[in-house]
Order: sequence, then C-alpha cells, then structure tokens
Amino acid sequence: MGIEISDLECINYLTAFDTAIDKGIERFEKFWLMFDFIYKFSKVKKEEDSCMETLRMMSESVLTRKRKEIEIRQTNKVNNKEDKNNFLERLLYFSDELTEKEIIDEVHTMIMAAIDTSTTVVLYTLILIGSYPTVQEKIMNELKDIFGDSDRDVQKHDLVQMRYLEATLKESMRYYVMVPFVSRYIDKEIKLKNCTLQPGNNCLFVLYGVHRNSMWGKDADQFRPERWLENEMPSNSSAFMSFSVGKRNCIGRMYAMMFMKTQLSHILRSYTIYADYMKLKLSMEVLLKPASGHYISIKKMLKNCKEIIK
Ligand code: HEM
Repeated sequence: MGIEISDLECINYLTAFDTAIDKGIERFEKFWLMFDFIYKFSKVKKEEDSCMETLRMMSESVLTRKRKEIEIRQTNKVNNKEDKNNFLERLLYFSDELTEKEIIDEVHTMIMAAIDTSTTVVLYTLILIGSYPTVQEKIMNELKDIFGDSDRDVQKHDLVQMRYLEATLKESMRYYVMVPFVSRYIDKEIKLKNCTLQPGNNCLFVLYGVHRNSMWGKDADQFRPERWLENEMPSNSSAFMSFSVGKRNCIGRMYAMMFMKTQLSHILRSYTIYADYMKLKLSMEVLLKPASGHYISIKKMLKNCKEIIK
C-alpha cells in the first residue's frame, strides 16, 4: 500500500485482525451465537467490536496519511508512475465512486487474503519436501540446472523453468488445501443430484473434500507431485480449488505462485529440510493450521551442496 507503519501499529493491527478472525470462528462454532439477539449481548461480540474499532482506526489513519501524501505530491507537481500502480492510490482515484467504508473494506479484504496464505503454503510445502527425500532431491537437481552453485536472485525466466518445484507446490496445495472451505450466499434455487439448495441460506464448499475426491485417482490421499507432470489430471477443470473458482477466485494467485517459487528456490539452494508430516495435527480454521507444531528442521549447505552444520 506504500505506507510506512511503525512496529507497534503493525503488531496492534495484526493482533486485532487475528482476534477478530478467532471471534468469527467462535461464533460459527457456538450455534446459539448464530441468533443475532443472543450474539448482540455476548462477550464474543464485545471483543469483536473492540478489534474492529482498532482495525477501523488504523485504516482511517492510513487513508488520511495517503491522502496527505498525494496532496503534497500534487502541490509539488511530482508525478510518479509507480505510485499510480499502488493498490491504495488506485482505490483513492476511484474514491468518487467508492465510499470511505467501501475503500476500508477493500483494504481489509486485500490484507486478510494476502496475509498468512502464501507463507503457510510455503510452510506446508517445506514440511512435505522434508518428509519426501526423493522429491527434495529432484527439486535440488532442477535448481542446480537453473542456478548452478550460485545464490543469485531469481529472474522471471527462471520461474518458468522450475517445473518440478511448481508441481510440488501445486501438489502441496492440493494435499493441504490452505483455505479448507469457502462460503457463498445462495440467491436462487440450485438443484443438485441429491438435494436442492434453497435461496436465502449460506452454504459451505469444503475444498479439502474436493481435493481428496476419487476423481484425483486411487492415490488421491498420497502426496505425489508427479501427477502434475503426467497427463492424468481430473477431467473437471474445477477440481483444483486452492485459489477457489468462479468470479470471486483469488486475484493474487499469479503473484502468490511467483512469490512462493522464488522463496522456496532460495531456501532450498541453501538448506536441506528434514520433516515428518505424519506427526502433523491439523486444525480447520479460516486457514488450515498446524495445531501440533511443525516437526521441521533445516541444515545449512555448503555452496557445493555438502552439508556442514546442523
Ligand atoms: C498461496 C496463497 C494463496 C491462496 C491459497 C489463496 C487462496 C484464496 C482463495 C481460496 C480465495 C477465494 C475465497 C472465496 O472464494 O471466498 C482468495 C481470494 C482472494 N485472494 Fe487469495 N490466496 C493466496 C494468496 C493471495 C495473495 C498473495 C493475495 C494478494 C496479493 C491474495 C488476494 C486475494 C483477494 C483480494 C481475494 C478476494 C477476491 C474477491 O473476493 O473477489 N491472495 N484467495
């Protein structure tokens, strides 16, 4: 968003964000809180309101700072192309059409959707890579072909060549689907094979279930990156739902893939990973979280790929 914020502001914002999400989950888990009149007087609502107030104050202060910055630039006639590509500035340029609340909502959506998601996918991918030495070896060989012994930065054309790493990432996202479910409001009657969904209700799509469905083959429950390189994918083009499908799918997916490939290629050029995914216990929150710790360790490598320190 192109705004400098202090560590304290950052911590307050993230704590309020995490707590607000936890409160949302708590309401979802406790069925009696579904009734608005009970929820209105509950402790959960009070705590949620206090978090939302922190978030609102922070977003308002960021918007005020950004507007001031634009004003100063306009007074000094400074025109920077990059600034116009900045997410927050783009929203503000449309501010005649968007209300203050709509801008703040967009800011929240972007932060919520981008925070934690790619980092957590990288975490699960490392755990899986560390649990499958043959997969790790194949990635190491691929990276060696692209970078040799160099730890140079990743260029755009390198990303295209990381085919096995990309297959591993996709398989990891299939195996541990980061956003285990998405919800939708039903606005018209939808006839399914065994039932009819009635308008006026909400429904949940359990993406975790879609990714373990038998359309992925008999080995749907196995982690096997090779499936992405063989031409044996499910015929249904919506079978892979890590970034969701339809109009509200993830707008950050291309960026997330580039970011994750870059990050993993740096880590795996310098470290050997050891992990045990069998010990993982997962908790299905807004994101799929490891509830049992990570069971992962790393070993630094020498440039010629010999391990030196544990
Ligand atoms: C591996 C990382 C990521 C995963 C697995 C992921 C997954 C998803 C999913 C499943 C949705 C759809 C939710 C729904 O259907 O209700 C979504 C939406 C969204 N994502 Fe991502 N995401 C990732 C990274 C990112 C990043 C890095 C950004 C921003 C730079 C981002 C921005 C968004 C936004 C703004 C939406 C909302 C789109 C809308 O409501 O129209 N995501 N993401």
